[in-house]
Amino acid sequence: MSIDDAVRIIAARRPGFRPRVALVLGSGLGAVAERIEQPTRISYADLPGFPVPTVAGHSGSMVLGTLGGVDVVCLNGRVHAYEGGDGAARLRVLVRTAKQLGVDALVLTNAAGSMRREVGPGSLVLIRDHINMLGFNPLQGPNDEAWGPRFFSMRDAYDPALAQRFRQAAASAGIALPEGVYLAYPGPNFETPAEIRAFRTMGADLVGMSTVPEVLVARHCGLSVAALSAVTNLAEGMSDDTPSHDETLAQGAAIAISLEKLILAFLESLKHGV
Ligand code: HPA
Repeated sequence: MSIDDAVRIIAARRPGFRPRVALVLGSGLGAVAERIEQPTRISYADLPGFPVPTVAGHSGSMVLGTLGGVDVVCLNGRVHAYEGGDGAARLRVLVRTAKQLGVDALVLTNAAGSMRREVGPGSLVLIRDHINMLGFNPLQGPNDEAWGPRFFSMRDAYDPALAQRFRQAAASAGIALPEGVYLAYPGPNFETPAEIRAFRTMGADLVGMSTVPEVLVARHCGLSVAALSAVTNLAEGMSDDTPSHDETLAQGAAIAISLEKLILAFLESLKHGV
């Protein structure tokens, strides 16, 4: 089984290391991984079953080390529904390897479009809940009971206690942190203006092409989840600008600075206990 193989390879590279938190970094947000102390970097290419990302801005490496005084595993590069192929299997491997390494919490970040005019580019948003419009679920197919039950609840999928820590961390770091509902869109095209109007009436605040599959796999195997969006643009049709991947990467790099502060403050709060 490739998860056991991956875990063995990781253990050989960093014996005895048991991360508490896994971080998944989204498009243009990889800089946080550079802050990890005493890093052990392992390319996804060396880990069986891991995705080899095909999108610019996703580097495809795991970094083990300490951040904000907490042992973490950082997953720098992810799988998207639009990549097709065996993406679902690779996405499950990514999240379940983190679980197998012993983490309790998964913190996901993404770049997203905002459907709230007052939450413009450059904002960080705490995800409260999601709407899955992917038409895809990485848990489709036979259920492996060893990881979790066939049917499971998505109530409080975004862990209330972790969310509260993020609110406190944002307050202590002086970072505004509005909250919102994230809608996952399959891509690879950006949405049409009509889709964005529809999604707003559905109650979504943010739109992006990731995160929801990881949350599903994580909740299935009992990991606690927190997720943050870095707003790189107003959604299609809401301004004169039209979304582009270059803009996502450029804005992501700018927001990465406050994202890094927020994640550090969050991890430091974990280090000090409640
Ligand atoms: N739509 C979908 N995904 C995105 C966007 C967007 O407007 N911005 C960044 N990722």
